Formats: sequence, structure tokens, C-alpha cells
Amino acid sequence: MPRFDEGRPEMTLEEFRLLRDHVYAHCGILIHEDMKFVMERRLWPRLEALGLADFGAYHRYLRYDAQRIAELEAAVESLTTHETYFFREPAQLKAFCEELLPLLEKKNARTRRLRLWSAGCSSGEEAYTVAMLLKDSGRFDDWDVEVHGTDLSRRVLAVARRAEYGPSALRATPPDLLERFFVPVGVNRVRVRDDVKAWVSFGHHNLADEAASQLVPRTDVVFCRNVMIYFDQAARRRVLGVIRDRLCPGGYLLLGHAENLLSLGADFELVHLKGDLVYRRPELPNGEGR
Ligand SMILES: C[S@@+](CC[C@H](N)C(=O)[O-])C[C@H]1O[C@@H](n2cnc3c(N)ncnc32)[C@H](O)[C@@H]1O
Repeated sequence: MPRFDEGRPEMTLEEFRLLRDHVYAHCGILIHEDMKFVMERRLWPRLEALGLADFGAYHRYLRYDAQRIAELEAAVESLTTHETYFFREPAQLKAFCEELLPLLEKKNARTRRLRLWSAGCSSGEEAYTVAMLLKDSGRFDDWDVEVHGTDLSRRVLAVARRAEYGPSALRATPPDLLERFFVPVGVNRVRVRDDVKAWVSFGHHNLADEAASQLVPRTDVVFCRNVMIYFDQAARRRVLGVIRDRLCPGGYLLLGHAENLLSLGADFELVHLKGDLVYRRPELPNGEGR
């Protein structure tokens, strides 16, 4: 077996393909062949931790060991990026506040209930941002509101539930909102205020698991930003099917700026807001919203 000079085993192309396919089948994340070296470097600590001699043994561990589910989570953890921060993509959030929130207030005026889903929420900044914008709008104060954040990684969900953040997470937060929606908890650290937290919940969910997705409640708006950039077309199509299914008729999907549905022909309408493009699940033919 070829070895690195530090004594690390090199990943053969065959091993790379087996591991890549295993990760892809689990969560839709596709790792290109030119990332073999990166995969090798990121997974090597897992081999070391488990005392395994090479990546072939690691693949067998992931397939057959009693700890395989936890280990697959650890592998995916070391291969994914969780980059996020509060008030990311402000132009889209402005369009959400100024153009979508008035529409949602009208659409749900009878039920006074609003459900939003941050799918691939990472450490929670996006879900809390959405809740803060809802509070800031003053439109939903006595409504039944819930923002549900989900992610594949249990590690980032633990951070989300703690709701304490430092300067990097807050780098785009407008000072007035920092003042209103956070309380100081230490040097350079703040915690999301309790009334915002009360509108937000978090859960573990793999968007590639179509059966588990049936358990996600129907929602008015889905934020799925900067998640599907790591998927191939087939995985994107499946995840979009899941999201469409969980959206109320007439509900909106907001993607990240690097993402669009143009080549997917998915069953969404493109909605041209003044400040952004968003997607909408078509209304039912009889015009009912739910
Ligand atoms: C780059 S972060 C984006 C966070 C946030 N949406 C934002 O735009 O700031 C991508 C997140 O998607 C999650 N993710 C990747 N694949 C997933 C899957 N199959 N199901 C659920 N979450 C997934 C990752 O764990 C990561 O936390």
C-alpha cells in the first residue's frame, strides 16, 4: 500500500470512490475526485482515533461496525462546512421583510399561525435571524409563530440550542438589532434573548432522508441557503422534492445567492420580488392556501 512520508496510509482511488459513494448515499454531498487529497487529510484523524491501518479498513468499519452510524456522522462532520453568521445575505432578508412578510400576514390572517423552516441551519444563526426579523416587523406579535432549524450535524445543533455567539457570528449584525435581541454573557459574547428563543426550535434532520422528511411539519417559508451547493443534480432534485412536499401550497423557498433552480425544472414558480428572486410552491387549483 502506498504511504505518505509521515507514515500515513494513502487513499487509493478505489478507496476514495467507495468512501465518496458512502457519504453521497447518506447525505447527498458529492466529493469530486480532485478533492481526494482533502478527503484523505480530513479523514486521517478518524483512522488514527479508531486505530485502523488504512482507508479500506475505515470503509469496512463504516459499513459493518456496530458504531457505524456514529462514525458516519463523525466522517461527514469532518468533510462538511458549517460556515454561517447572523443576517447573512442582507438584500434577500430585506426582500423577505419588505415584500414577503406583508404577503404572509395577509395569507395567514385567519389562522394567525406562521411556520418557517431553516433547513441546513448550521449553528442556528439563520433561524434566529429569521425570528428576529419577524419580531422586528411587529406584524406577528400575538401570532402562533415557530421557526424550526434542522441540520445533519448534531455538533452544530448543540451550539444552536446554547444560543451564545462571538464576534465572528455577529459580523454582519446591525448594531440596533444587536442591542435589541441579544444580552451580554461575557467578554465579547452574547446570548439570543429569551423571547426570540421561544419562537425557535431545533432538530436533527437529514434532507436526503425522504422518509424522515415526512415528519417535518408543513411550513410557510423554507430557507435552504448554502446547503445544496455541495450536492449533485440528482441529490438536489430529491431534496427539492422533499422541500416542495413540506411547503404549504403558495409557500416560499429561499435559496442562497450561489444557488438556483433554473436547470432543475423543479415544480416551483419563480417569483420576482423587487429586491430578489424567490421560489414558490404553486397554490392548489381551487386557490386554497393549505
Ligand atoms: C454552509 S452551512 C449553511 C448554513 C446556513 N443555511 C447559512 O446559509 O448560513 C451548510 C449546512 O448544511 C448542512 N447539511 C449538509 N448536508 C445536509 C443534509 N443532507 N441534511 C441536512 N443538513 C445538511 C451542514 O451540516 C451545514 O451545517
